[in-house]
Order: sequence, then C-alpha cells, then structure tokens
Amino acid sequence: MKTGEENIYMIKKSDSVIINGKSVLRGRVSVQGSKNAALPIIASAILVDDEMVLHNVPDLSDIHVMLEILQHLGASYTFENGVVQLDCRGLENKKIPDELSTKLRASSLLLGPMLARFGECEVGMPGGCTIGSRPLDIHFKGFEKLGAEVYLENGVIRAQTQQLEGDFTLDFRSVGATENLIMAAVFSPSHVILRNIATEPEIMNMIDFLNKAGARIRLTGQATVEIEGVSQLSYCEHQIDPDRIEAATLLIAGVASGGEVTITGAKVEDLKVLLEKLQEMNAKVEIGHDYITVGYQGELVGTTIKTEVHPGFPTDMQSQMCVLMTQASTPSLVIENIFTNRFQHIGELQKMGAKARIEGNVAYIEKSSLTGCRVAGYELRGAASMVMAGILADGVTRVNNLKYLYRGYEAIIEKFQHLGADIAYV
Ligand code: EPZ
Repeated sequence: MKTGEENIYMIKKSDSVIINGKSVLRGRVSVQGSKNAALPIIASAILVDDEMVLHNVPDLSDIHVMLEILQHLGASYTFENGVVQLDCRGLENKKIPDELSTKLRASSLLLGPMLARFGECEVGMPGGCTIGSRPLDIHFKGFEKLGAEVYLENGVIRAQTQQLEGDFTLDFRSVGATENLIMAAVFSPSHVILRNIATEPEIMNMIDFLNKAGARIRLTGQATVEIEGVSQLSYCEHQIDPDRIEAATLLIAGVASGGEVTITGAKVEDLKVLLEKLQEMNAKVEIGHDYITVGYQGELVGTTIKTEVHPGFPTDMQSQMCVLMTQASTPSLVIENIFTNRFQHIGELQKMGAKARIEGNVAYIEKSSLTGCRVAGYELRGAASMVMAGILADGVTRVNNLKYLYRGYEAIIEKFQHLGADIAYV
C-alpha cells in the first residue's frame, strides 16, 4: 500500500522566494491552461467509459492529485507536456482515501460523477480552506432534490441513488455545486433542469467537453441548464481553456510595477471585466488578434471593485487588484462578496507599509510606497499577490508558503523572472 506521501504529487520547489525590488516588468509571456477548467473536466472523466485526450492541462499539484484519485478508482493515465491521456474503462467504485480527498478542495467534484456512474460514493470531506468555511450544503441539497440520499458522518460524505431527475434551483450560483449537479445529471433516466446556476467560463468548458463525449447539456436560459439523460459517454479530445486568472495576475503585475506586459493565448472575453477596470484606473490596454497588452501610461487612479459571481468581477482577481491599488494616486474600495475570509493579503501588505484597512468585507486602500520585508501567502491568489508586491516594493522581500502558489500557477515565478523581476528561490 502506498503511503499518503507517495500518493501526493508534490512540486519539488522551494517554499520561499527572495525578491529584490523594485523592478519594472516588461515583455511577453504565454498563459497556462486553466486549473479551474481542468479540475472539473478531469473529475467528469469518471463518466466516460472510454479513453480521452485533454490538451493544455497545467502541471499543478492539484491536477496530479485529481489524476491520482482517478488512478485509485482504476483509471490509467499519462500526463506529458500538457497532454493528459486518460482511460476510464473498467473504473470501480471505491472509497476515496482521506489522504487524497482531504488534500484537494476540488475532491468534492467527485461526488456528482461517482453518483452518476456507480449510483453511490464515499468521499472524505475535503479540507476547509483558508479563504472561508466553504460548505457543500448547496451540493447536498441539489443531490437530495434530484433523488439521492446524502449522509455526512465522521468527516465522510456518503451518497446513494437509484436515479437522478427533476428540477432544482440553487440558492446561490456556486461554481462547484453547478459542476457537481451537471455531472450527476448526465445519465438521468429522463432529464434534469438546474436553475440559478453559475456560468463561469470554466463551467462552459466542462459542458463543451461533456457534450463532445456524448452528453446532452443545453443552456436554456440566462442561468438555466437542461440535461437530457444519455446512456453513456465515449472517446473525445478536448482543449482546456487558457487560465483567465493567471492571465489577470500577469497583466495586473505589469502595470502595478510601472511597466508593460503582453500575454498570448488568453481569451479576451474572459478578461473583459478586468480590462475595463484597468482602463478605468488609467492603464493602457491594447487588444491584438492574438495578444493582450496592459501597460503603465501615467498616474493610476483608484477605483471600486465588488466581487460577484460571473459575469461580475471575479473574486480570484481581488487580491492582485489590492496590490495594484496601492500604486493608485486616489483611494480605492474593494468589496469581497464571495468568500468570508479573503483579505489575508491586506495584513501582509500592511507589513510592507500599505495604507489599507478592512471593515467587514470591505477593504480601503490608499496610495502607499511598499518596502520589502518577510511576508507570506495564505491562499493561492494571495501568495501570487505577495510576490507581485515584492516586485514593486523597494528593498528585499521574502515570500513564504509558496506551496499555495504551486497549486494554481505552473511557472509564474519563472514568468516574472522572464519579465525582469529579480527573484530567487530560497
Ligand atoms: C471555485 O470554488 C473555484 N475553485 C475558486 O477558485 C473560486 O474562487 C470560486 O469557484 C468562486 O469563483 C475551483 O474551481 C476548483 P463556490 P468553489 O462553490 O466551487 C459558498 C482559486 O483561487 N458556498 O462558487 O468552491 C462558499 O462558501 C479558487 O482558483 C456555500 O455556501 O466556489 C463560498 O463562500 C479559490 N455552499 C461561495 O459560495 C455551497 O454548497 C463561492 O463558492 C457551495 C458554496
């Protein structure tokens, strides 16, 4: 029996970097494949009793854990140069071991496909997260409304069902609950209608994948999806979307440093809301046929952002914007409406001299000159934001807890180095 450690794919990289600021970022970089599209798509492979090929899959610890989980169920796979070849024929239903399911927030996405394929499942409750409690009540309510029984005991989620059908309205446009319920409905004996669903681009990429494999999933309204049950899914090849959050992180870092960054491979429509905000702050935005450039073109002005479900301002871009706002000449306001604890980076920025304060779910940020010191990331996007802050701060910054960064960014340190940042792994 492999121990937990062997099972968990760990990116062998240092947990800290030292950054000599201040650098101005300039240059051109490509964008990785989307973590938040790849994870639900790999989970939905459980529904496909066949082989499949996924292109543009980012090389991240979370992706490797999700693949290890499928291997535990009997799948075989190769993952080289961004291409995953998966064979999910002969999958068996087994309890997902805690050391795997608790390592990955997105292990909750196994419930839907396992219910659909096996009619029952046992998954360890995924670990909480530093950005908030992240309950699964909407997932469970949806499964039950569609005909499943769900039990949660001793930290293990057990669910079973004869069939899933009917109509469910989500209390909140939860991304994970939407993905889980769509996957659960694919083999319905009749059909399922889900209302008030999340419509993030990553969900659309997952729907494209499932329909290519033979599912019948149709958006029938502004936030309504209808799933007509089919009997099986089969072979398909699919391209994972570019990661709009990595794209945003790179573009915001460029202008925050007083420089100019061009990214290739991103989808402009996934960045529209961000680009409008950056223009509002007086950044230069140039959209080419296969690139996007954002640059500093003079004094930045503050703005207000409110994080909302899609198509509102994405919460995953919030902490990066907080760093940029410290460089704006007039004050900014950030209202975090999605997660209950997603301002931990503000405390770290204050250590660097940021004039910022939090009142409830609102952060007030004024023009600040940042000075390097020892800071840490407490979650994926916050870790990336502290690296950004180190690049535009005067002096030396040490950023710890980069294990969070590697969960979502394949090579962002190397990309920042390529753009002119003076960063070294410790
Ligand atoms: C997905 O998380 C993303 N993760 C997150 O990205 C992203 O921040 C989030 O969507 C919002 O866009 C992946 O796709 C793997 P939610 P998810 O269910 O599905 C509450 C990153 O940085 N809620 O939309 O967990 C929940 O507590 C990560 O890449 C319930 O109350 O997000 C949270 O406050 C971080 N009950 C809010 O809704 C539920 O049953 C949003 O959660 C489900 C959610």
